[in-house]
Order: sequence, then structure tokens, then C-alpha cells
Amino acid sequence: MQLIRVTEAAALNASKYLGLGNKEMVDQAAVDAMRGMLELVDVKGTVVIGEGEKDKAPMLYIGERVGNWSEEAPEMDIAVDPIDGTRLVANGLPNAIAVMAAAEKGKLASLPTFYCEKLACGPELKGKLDINASVRENLKIAAAVLRLDMNELTVVVLNRPRHEKLIEDIRKVGARIKLISDGDIAAAIASALPASGVNLYMGIGGSPEAVLAAAALKSLGGEIQVKLHPSEEEKNKIKELDVDKVYLTEDLAGGENVVFAATGVTDGDLLKGVRYAKNHAITYTIAMRSKTHTIRKVEAFHDLKYKTIALKSLGIDVKLDR
Ligand code: FBP
Repeated sequence: MQLIRVTEAAALNASKYLGLGNKEMVDQAAVDAMRGMLELVDVKGTVVIGEGEKDKAPMLYIGERVGNWSEEAPEMDIAVDPIDGTRLVANGLPNAIAVMAAAEKGKLASLPTFYCEKLACGPELKGKLDINASVRENLKIAAAVLRLDMNELTVVVLNRPRHEKLIEDIRKVGARIKLISDGDIAAAIASALPASGVNLYMGIGGSPEAVLAAAALKSLGGEIQVKLHPSEEEKNKIKELDVDKVYLTEDLAGGENVVFAATGVTDGDLLKGVRYAKNHAITYTIAMRSKTHTIRKVEAFHDLKYKTIALKSLGIDVKLDR
């Protein structure tokens, strides 16, 4: 429940900037609320996936201590993406979420490249697909295992020029494609939720996003396979870059207990976004823990007369006035 309050606060605070065209403001609002609310969480937390290196990110930087650090609190590594899909929120588009995960120390991977290639699916397909196989082979197996005709299988892909060939390959096989403009954490997770209508997520996206997706897919019994996708600069800079290594869910989010929470900011396949009614805001959150594989869906009604969010920048709880 403590994590739920963190992602709810990030989503609520960021949603004030829906459609205003300013993605920096969206991110800043989410970071500020997430950072403030994290201080209330009973954890000795260290950010391992966050807003970037310390010199570039004033808050939620990698290595930053978060949580209340009370004596009895457990030590955990923390991964955050205050908004996955900042552009989406800035433009009022679907699919943006506020996300965080926590795991035992050393159990969340920190991949060396900015991008990686991903293949995500639900429990029925776990262990049956291979990121090294052709698109045709994987789609044929997926359709057969899920007992779908090929034209009933839905694959989500980020709409990017780099995916021209992938999109062409999927179309040749005859599967359905859902192109998204941003937000591949939600897309990867949706592949493991039967009601989402999404069967697979494929393509190249951010590496931190892959780890956060893995943190959720672990509880959902789904799978993400990942291969590093280095830029030319990274190829020259990073020694011993193993581009053939396939990282599986457990390599990205390992250990006994990984907890995950995401709150919708705008409507998407995974979650509904923040909505406002008279004096109320409503949020939709999915939370899970891998130890028990419990998945909680929380619809929360926030009375704006009373609702406050702890903002780190102000050091106080503020009313959520729009
Ligand atoms: P941000 O919200 O941090 O901008 O990330 C959105 C996102 O779409 C991710 O979901 C995805 O992994 C990544 O960007 C893809 O990167 P790019 O936009 O450079 O293709």
C-alpha cells in the first residue's frame, strides 16, 4: 500500500499538466511528488534506476537514498520511472503511467546500454519464444500456443523508424499490430494481462523500462527477453559489451520478493488514467509482489478538499489544487 501511494501521488501531480505541451513540467511534477511520498515509506532504499546520474538529475538520481531509513526498515533497491510517457502526458495522449519497483539489494539489473531489444509475453508463452528466432517463428508459435488465428494475434510495437523492418515482418506474417508512440513498460506488462487484448510486445526501447517491466512480469508469471542494443558511441565506450547475451526476467528483476506499482496517468491498455469529478480525483493502480504473485488493482477516490501530497521541493504537504 505504501508504494501505491507513491505512484498515485506522481500520477496525480503530473496529471495537472495534461496536454499543456510541456514534458519537462510533467516529469518534474511526478518526480517531486514521488520523491516526497517516498520519504514516508518504511524502507532503507537506494535508487538503482532513476532519473539519471547525480550530476544530471537533482532528484531520484542513481545512488540517492530514499525512504524513511528507520532502524527496522528493510534495505531495498528502488527503480523508478516517475512517468513512462512524459510526451504522452504533455500531449494528452494515451498510455502514460507512473511506475516504481523495489527488490532486495543487488537484484535489479542495471543494463549498460540506453536501449535494448525486447520480447515480452504472458504466462502461456513463457519459455516458448526466443528473441533470437525470426519474427515469423515467434508469431507462429504464439498463435499456436494461444490457439488464435494469426489475424487475431496482437503485437504492440513502438512507432519508430528503427522498427520499419520489424513492422514489415509482422505484417507479412499477418498478425495485428498496435503501434504506440511511447510508453513501452505498460505495453510489455499488458502482454501478460488477458483482458488487455495484447499478446506480445516486441522491439527496441529503453533499458531501464525493460527492468521495470520485468519487475511486474515476474509477479504476473509472464516473461521478458532482452538483448543489449548499443549505439555506436556505446560500442566504442563500453568494454566487454556482450550483445549476444539474452537477459531473462529473473536476470533483470531477481530475488525472493520484487514489489511493483503503477498508476495510470492517461488511459491505456494496462490502466485507466487520472480522472476528475466534482471535488474528487480518481486513480487506477496495479500493484504486485512476486513472493505471493498477488496482483492488486486499486481504484482510489481522492477527496480534493482533504487530499495532500508531500512535495520534496517545498518540504511540505500541499493540497492538490489544479
Ligand atoms: P520517457 O517517458 O522517459 O520519455 O520514455 C518514453 C519511452 O517511450 C519509453 O517507454 C521507451 O522505452 C522509450 O521512451 C523509447 O525511447 P525513444 O523515444 O528514444 O525511442
